[in-house]
Amino acid sequence: MKYSDSDVRHSDLLKFVEEMKGVCTPDDVYWCDGSPEEYRDLCDQLVDKGTFIRLHPEKWPNSFAAFSDPSDVARVEDRTYICSRRKEDAGPTNNWVDPREMKAHLKEMFRGSMRGRTMYVIPFCMGPIGSPISKIGVQITDSAYVVVNMHIMTRMGKAVINALGTDGDYIKCLHSVGAPLEPGQADVPWPCNPTTKYIVHYPEDRSIASYGSGYGGNALLGKKCLALRIASVMAKEEGWLAEHMLILGVEDPKGRKTYVAAAFPSACGKTNFAMLIPPREIEGWKVTTVGDDIAWIKPGKDGRLYAINPEYGYFGVAPGTNMKTNPNAMQALSRNAIFTNVGVTDDGDIWWEGMSKEPPAAIRNWQGQRHDPSSGKPVAHPNARFTAPAAQCPSIDPDWEKPSGVPISAFIFGGRRSSTIPLVYQAFNWNYGVYMASTMGSETTAAAFGEIGKVRRDPFAMLPFCGYHMADYFNHWLQFGRNLSRAPRIFGVNWFRKDENGQFLWPGFGDNMRILKWIVERSRGEANAIESPIGWMPRYEDIDWSGSSYQDEDYERIMEVDREAWKTEIMAHEELFARMYDRLPKEYFFMRELLLSSLWRSPEHWYLEAETH
Ligand code: OXD
Ligand code: MN
Repeated sequence: MKYSDSDVRHSDLLKFVEEMKGVCTPDDVYWCDGSPEEYRDLCDQLVDKGTFIRLHPEKWPNSFAAFSDPSDVARVEDRTYICSRRKEDAGPTNNWVDPREMKAHLKEMFRGSMRGRTMYVIPFCMGPIGSPISKIGVQITDSAYVVVNMHIMTRMGKAVINALGTDGDYIKCLHSVGAPLEPGQADVPWPCNPTTKYIVHYPEDRSIASYGSGYGGNALLGKKCLALRIASVMAKEEGWLAEHMLILGVEDPKGRKTYVAAAFPSACGKTNFAMLIPPREIEGWKVTTVGDDIAWIKPGKDGRLYAINPEYGYFGVAPGTNMKTNPNAMQALSRNAIFTNVGVTDDGDIWWEGMSKEPPAAIRNWQGQRHDPSSGKPVAHPNARFTAPAAQCPSIDPDWEKPSGVPISAFIFGGRRSSTIPLVYQAFNWNYGVYMASTMGSETTAAAFGEIGKVRRDPFAMLPFCGYHMADYFNHWLQFGRNLSRAPRIFGVNWFRKDENGQFLWPGFGDNMRILKWIVERSRGEANAIESPIGWMPRYEDIDWSGSSYQDEDYERIMEVDREAWKTEIMAHEELFARMYDRLPKEYFFMRELLLSSLWRSPEHWYLEAETH
């Protein structure tokens, strides 16, 4: 299926590629066709170069492992920029530089940056090709590792060139690892620029430039850069939503299907929730997976919302994933997968913390060194990843590629909170739900965000991913709801509440089905709840406890609305609001007051008097 620029009829795209070739001066240009042969050839080349280790053909068929440079292991939020024309449009939560200044600077960075390398052109489609919700991008990159990951994460190649035709719209994505080679200079297994990284978005131009990193969200530009940061801007202008949400389907014993979309900050188990296996005793209920990270959501003619997963694969966190926590993910990654920064044995087996109790003997850690159990160093990097095709997930929903999307009945928002926030509650209405999602927070788990355990406000789990002013984003959500005749119900959850001894109060994983079942029934108007000061809440008897020994007393503790803690919580919203006061929806001040007064007014044991609805 090989083709070259002489087969491409899109003059603007040809001009873009020609111009970038002139700036980056690669040795050659290669147009990716997206074929299995291309994938195989590039993987072979990466093995020859030492970037890839071919894994054991029976244990891990057609799979590879890579170790990144130690400086290149995660997204770099402090090097991520939204370069809108006006600073105030990027808002207080994004880094901003004048786009003219940034372009001039980056032009110098990219000048000659691909010397000694091949420039790959990757036409890719976020969402099924031909879907009215999908968007096309073209990524230029000098990394073959990026190309093979994009093969898994997106629909890409010649079919996308055909869909673009002569003048289709596309998002320009330029990427270089920022490590040019002098003539005769040997390459390293993981080229990157250890000191200089830039992840830059130009919302008005709808373009992206990424320099210096070969890793994940920094380099696979269809994901966070296009499908969230640029798409969120397009969504606001065009009247839809681009969200950091998983999408799952719940089928009840009568075969009725309900889809929900859920937003959790990074490191809150989104992939596990998207692939949840219900406890056996909740008979006849099934969960199917549409997506694990991103949802594009558009209003349909019937007043409902329809969502697609723009991605084609999973770029999931490996540590902690095992046959108990997520057997579906383990199946999805069992073949045709790429592993980055996991441990590798001499015979091509892999391991990460939490895969099983003990690592196999004679394993090399993610830095390629022999693992020494006494060193205290982990085998896998905590942010080690698997790249795996979505279609390989046993729980994949039959409609996951439906061009018109799946209808969404509920939104769920959750963070990692060891106190205050109850296991589950339902917002009284759309506006209150939007307020709730805007003020959600999560306790930090990685030292990268500073102090561990501090609550970081992460509105809609979009703080690092919103391509414009966060308060305008809140206004967009409020406005969006006004036009929906059948708006989804909105729920808050917290799987991570702890008791006074620091023990988790909720088992999580499969047991989350009990809560999900109530949410689904509630959105259908089939489940009971009582009115609490912060929203509707299920009583113990409203939850299905089949096969569980979870006690009423434990439930009371995990559902507790501690008035003093909530007052402190609501006061803390001020910290976020103060940063974006000028554009904050006026409704928020009223909602905050209303919440505070409902807490003051409520009797201490409000649940004894509350009525069911
Ligand atoms: C991710 C993230 O990688 O949210 O999905 O950080
Ligand atoms: Mn994510």
